[in-house]
Amino acid sequence: MQCLREFATSLYVAEGPCVNFHGFAYPTRMAAIVLSDGGLFIWSPIALSPELKAEIDALGPVSCLVSPNRLHYLFLAEWKRAYPQARLYASPGLRKKRKDLRFDDELGDEPPAEWATDIDQVLVHGSFLTEAVFFHRASGTAIFTDLLQNFAPDWFKGWRALIARLDGITAPCPGAPREWRASFLDRRVARAALRVILDWPIERVLIAHGAPVTENGAAFVRRGFAWLVGKNAH
Ligand SMILES: [Fe+2]
Repeated sequence: MQCLREFATSLYVAEGPCVNFHGFAYPTRMAAIVLSDGGLFIWSPIALSPELKAEIDALGPVSCLVSPNRLHYLFLAEWKRAYPQARLYASPGLRKKRKDLRFDDELGDEPPAEWATDIDQVLVHGSFLTEAVFFHRASGTAIFTDLLQNFAPDWFKGWRALIARLDGITAPCPGAPREWRASFLDRRVARAALRVILDWPIERVLIAHGAPVTENGAAFVRRGFAWLVGKNAH
């Protein structure tokens, strides 16, 4: 079975097994972007099966492994073991949480030279969890991790489905979970990051959980962040 699927120009995604997050089955998804220099930018890596590794190796040499927020780190160690030459990038706060991992660098508001030609980025601060949002220029794809969740309404069953809907993470109303939204005490800095994001010419939106978007991406992002900019924001 093929693991990698071409999502857009030079951008591939692979789906991994579900992981348990506070009793909820969260699907995992990673992206591999082929950079101009031929190296691979690996975002939020999933479990590395031999089949996935063979497909990745056929795509190009892995040059960087990126954790976009400190909740997405589960498979970094096995990828670093498989690709010791790749630079391992920590999301804000992850170095403290995973002292066992040897990170080469930490994500900031500016993309490092390694991928700056192809990918832009911004950190969304203002809450208990800082997430790095990326923009792949060649395909006009914005890449969100947990800030925009878009589960199918029937993904979770029973009371979990109700919780997910109340939490604001199911289609057609994508977004961050409500308790995370409520923790954005510094909305000014979060809005500044959102302005940077909305300045990007977004066509597609790749997300970690739920259906990604292949057209009208900017409108999807605006809808997903109405809570941050709306009058009755919550
Ligand atoms: Fe997540």
